Amino acid sequence: MSIKTSLTRRQALMLSGSAVAGLVAAPLPRWAQAAPSAGLALPIPQLIEARSSEPVVLTLQKTQHRFGSGPAVASWGISASYLGPVVRVRNGDTIPFRVENRLDEETTLHWHGMLVPSHVDGGPHNTIKAGAVWSPEITIKQPASTNWFHPHPHGRTAPQVYSGLAGMMIVSDGADRDRGLPATYGVDDLPIVLQDKRFGRSGEVVYQPDMMDIMHGFQGDTLVVNGVIGPTAGVPAGIVRLRLLNAANARAFDLRFSDRRPFFVVAGDGGLLPEPVEVRRLVIAPAERYEVLVDFGDGRSVDLVTAPDAGHGPGMMPMMVPRRRLAGSLELLMRFRPDTALKAAITRLPKQLAALAEPDVKSAVAWRTFELNPMMGMGMMGMGTMSAPGRLASADHDHGDGHLQMMGINGRAFAMDRIDVTAKLGTAEIWEISAGGMPMAHPIHVHGASFRILSKNGGKPAAHEAGWKDVVLLDEHAEVLVRFDNPAPPKMPFMYHCHILEHEDHGMMGQFAVV
Ligand code: C2O
Ligand code: CU
Ligand code: CU
Repeated sequence: MSIKTSLTRRQALMLSGSAVAGLVAAPLPRWAQAAPSAGLALPIPQLIEARSSEPVVLTLQKTQHRFGSGPAVASWGISASYLGPVVRVRNGDTIPFRVENRLDEETTLHWHGMLVPSHVDGGPHNTIKAGAVWSPEITIKQPASTNWFHPHPHGRTAPQVYSGLAGMMIVSDGADRDRGLPATYGVDDLPIVLQDKRFGRSGEVVYQPDMMDIMHGFQGDTLVVNGVIGPTAGVPAGIVRLRLLNAANARAFDLRFSDRRPFFVVAGDGGLLPEPVEVRRLVIAPAERYEVLVDFGDGRSVDLVTAPDAGHGPGMMPMMVPRRRLAGSLELLMRFRPDTALKAAITRLPKQLAALAEPDVKSAVAWRTFELNPMMGMGMMGMGTMSAPGRLASADHDHGDGHLQMMGINGRAFAMDRIDVTAKLGTAEIWEISAGGMPMAHPIHVHGASFRILSKNGGKPAAHEAGWKDVVLLDEHAEVLVRFDNPAPPKMPFMYHCHILEHEDHGMMGQFAVV
């Protein structure tokens, strides 16, 4: 396995690490500047407490939404004007869902991070035709964790998620209070969905990826949290739990607080860590979840900000790096305003959270290698095509014929009718993944399974990445130990793919059966 000699992500970060002095506000489109939107309250999505007796209804619809102080614009939502409700399920329950597709196109609804069999996973084979209803029953059998749901139709995941179709799903085991974790939804336990958007002149949401956007993933110039630009959350002046979800199509956020206060990671994608891990910055890649505790006990207002996405920086051809990504400036995500009148339920960090064994490497029955091919079809396309913005990649072109499946894994673009890997139910395997080619970070995700990161770029994973996960941000090379405890017959396989949604839609995805 050869390791590339270009700047590693870490080196690149060290080079840019001194540039974080002052907060520079991101340029907002004019309609958003007209009235400062920093006053808008953080929207708290409706909480649905799922029960076995009654279906959870999720309606995928076209609607209108206000992202800032400007007018409402066309958007998509799940039983909401944008994004969806937070669905809270209890471990051990079986929950009936009723997913209504009120769009005028086919979709699916995938339970990202849920350890369920493939026939209810909502992958590209579980299609819901326009106007149809899908009614899966899902048995919850996994640790307390923060997961999410989003569409996954073949070739159309990026535009559908970008339009607003995504929601959070919390698995609870009822033990958070005993652990000393904040657990009052909307008060000290907050869903925080991070995204970026491009808005047009009249505030409309724009999704018109050109070739560059497909190669890098489509990134916006305006950050939104829970569907609002730069919102403010009133919080108790104590310890607050943020359930962070990166639901952006392509951008990794490099989070920190404006006063550089420490914060504490308590859970990753697949559940709790053994103990809180102190950090001052946290990279969260597309589709990753981290739960963090922040102490607002000093009563001061503070901003959650992000540095540029280093995975799209040095090493790329300079002409391909959007100028704003080179600036080194911090951008505002949202503000927290502690309210001393609100009594804080939790004022101390918990010491111990959950048991977590060392990864059982000897349990692996197979070792497979995967190499990403971000530029597989580039040779045929040529520079002429690359400089024609918007043409090739308009959101409605037909992906079905495969001629635009220009990315792949192990030399092959995604195909609905090809099984790439067959694993044995109840076993574990080591998957070794390398980035191949462009020095760019790819968040790699596996369906219906959790894994432990064994190594990243030849080193150990950071402490906050050492728990159960289903996304690994791959910049050069990683090895993960994956457990296959959910069945997926060859007719209804699971997916593994890059969660840069433009990469996924353009072929950087494979299928595996678990039998
Ligand atoms: Cu978040 Cu294959 O999905
Ligand atoms: Cu998934
Ligand atoms: Cu990718």
